[in-house]
Amino acid sequence: MLKEEVIQMDQDYFMNVFGKRFPIVLEKGEGVYLYDNEGIEYLDFAAGIAVNALGYKHPQVTEALKEQVDKLLHASNLYYFEIQAKLSKLLVDSSCGDKVFYGNSGAEANEGAIKLARKYFKEQGQEKYEVITAKESFHGRTLSTIAATGQTKYQKDFTPLPKGFKHASYNDLAAAKEAITEQTAAIMVEPIQGEGGVNPAQKEYLQGLRELCDQAGILLIFDEIQTGVGRTGELFAYQAYGVEPDIFTLAKALGNGMPVSAFLAKEQVAQAFKPGDHASTFGGNPLACQAAYTTLQVILEDNILDDVKEVGAYFREQLEQLVEQYSSVIEVRGKGLMIGLELNIDAKEVVRKLLDQGVLALTAGKKVLRFLPPLIITTRDVDQLIEELDQILVE
Ligand SMILES: Cc1ncc(COP(=O)(O)O)c(C=O)c1O
Repeated sequence: MLKEEVIQMDQDYFMNVFGKRFPIVLEKGEGVYLYDNEGIEYLDFAAGIAVNALGYKHPQVTEALKEQVDKLLHASNLYYFEIQAKLSKLLVDSSCGDKVFYGNSGAEANEGAIKLARKYFKEQGQEKYEVITAKESFHGRTLSTIAATGQTKYQKDFTPLPKGFKHASYNDLAAAKEAITEQTAAIMVEPIQGEGGVNPAQKEYLQGLRELCDQAGILLIFDEIQTGVGRTGELFAYQAYGVEPDIFTLAKALGNGMPVSAFLAKEQVAQAFKPGDHASTFGGNPLACQAAYTTLQVILEDNILDDVKEVGAYFREQLEQLVEQYSSVIEVRGKGLMIGLELNIDAKEVVRKLLDQGVLALTAGKKVLRFLPPLIITTRDVDQLIEELDQILVE
């Protein structure tokens, strides 16, 4: 089909929640490049919004998935699967979590984490149900996760929202402390706010939240949907902060493009879930688990985390030079390969111009350019992006 025909068909049949998308029809990908149906190549600094950690058509992931497709896609969680058990062990061995549960999306993982926090206190006969989250946070699009999200634009047309969520300023320990009541079950934060503008937590903030939670006897939940699975140069962002959460959630990069999410919890918390408390038809099916298992293995065995740190540091240096050079560029923020560039001009316009030059990038809010490339990009790819930005910002 011609590009125009695809776009017209989409407009005729798909609910218009994405408005006018970027006008390209993507067909295939390889490495850090995507190709549209007119054969145009795009250097990818978006990675499907932090999903394609190993880029496209990664040989090991592709091979493992093909083999799994030939064997078994799905048969329900009524039965055991070797690949699911192996993934659970790998996730637990690589993190501070002791038990895991699988879902299909970030929102579903966060819902599960919130349910587990509530159940943990129910088990102790305590009526603690409230979750404190941060202003400008983003936790998903289901009713509970928009209630958890600290941005009214996602909430206002969907009231009444589920009760039990409170928002306190990010990086503000005093605000978090003040928000705690007798009903508080947990504090849930992103170690780096993604959609909210690429705002990293200060170390003292996360460490302080840990202390606050310990003192109040409540749980600390990290939403690592965007930061997890190598994005920041650590397998999980909490590792860079030296703060262990009681529960943390993963999605996006976990399956390198296969929809799979997870939440992990410390043993004492995880044991609150009893048979029948939680479930998911598709969650953790063999194909999803194979994708996650192979992705994690490649990230760990190929030392991808070292590359993320190295290329991320180089990337930041180059962007810092743009801050020096252009009055429209205000600040570089982020960690590893989760990077925001604050501008004082319309960030979407810059993304559009980058697209015209064959580079894909993202925004976070109106003024922040956001880069979430595959974790396998090289300094040469960074140079190409910087060259394009140099052209665009000059105009
Ligand atoms: C931090 C965070 N939490 C949750 C979500 C929701 O994930 P999903 O869209 O897979 O439901 C996102 C998605 O952008 C996210 O960045």
